[in-house]
Amino acid sequence: MGKDKLKRFYELNTFTNVLQPSLNEIKPAHKIKGKWNLEFKNDNPIVLELGCGKGEYTVGLAKLNPDVNFIGVDIKGARIWRGAKTTNDENIENVRFLRTKIDFIDHFFTKDEVSDIWLTFSDPQPKRPRKRLTSPLFIDRYKKILCPNGIIHLKTDSNLLYHYTLDEIKENNYKIIENSDNIYSELIPRASEKLKETLSIQTFYESLWLKENKTIKYIAFVV
Ligand SMILES: C[S@@+](CC[C@H](N)C(=O)[O-])C[C@H]1O[C@@H](n2cnc3c(N)ncnc32)[C@H](O)[C@@H]1O
Repeated sequence: MGKDKLKRFYELNTFTNVLQPSLNEIKPAHKIKGKWNLEFKNDNPIVLELGCGKGEYTVGLAKLNPDVNFIGVDIKGARIWRGAKTTNDENIENVRFLRTKIDFIDHFFTKDEVSDIWLTFSDPQPKRPRKRLTSPLFIDRYKKILCPNGIIHLKTDSNLLYHYTLDEIKENNYKIIENSDNIYSELIPRASEKLKETLSIQTFYESLWLKENKTIKYIAFVV
């Protein structure tokens, strides 16, 4: 492991806005489950970004919505470090990062504890459909933690993941709130100011795909 990465891992352990539980601590459930309001010291809604990488959406949304709490979830510590460092340096109080596998998400949140879920540029997993973050396996986990009418937001460059998710929505009669196969040419020009600001946040991966002239798709839906 490089010197910089080691330094980041060490620093990550010192950040009070990052939770990195061991497997033992999450079975059958982590002690924070159902008690995130105590961690944030308020009863504001909680929004998750799953597979947050460097946490651009988590931090960007937190700045746009100071009365909402945001939690970025990813397994990769070196990536989470970036978002956690920014959050610390800028004293952003409504953000936390959780380093864990998304597969265990219902070990950390109880029923109705989460108001929205963002899936930003998730791996399309061409050969492993069950691992897609909009597969029935993952949607069932989200159902256990989402509030009634809680919204799942998928922002992706992947045609495969976009069409797979639309098929799942259709098959299960989920409700589509918004759907665009090209947000920059089609949705953003007609969107409200708030949605425009929200969708204009760009992640590390989005910036890579935009350089390759890929179109960015967005679906907001209720399960
Ligand atoms: C393609 S990257 C996108 C990162 C970020 N959202 C962005 O747009 O820049 C996918 C991220 O999801 C994380 N990830 C994928 N599957 C995961 C899982 N099952 N549990 C935790 N993290 C996962 C990876 O570690 C990676 O950081």
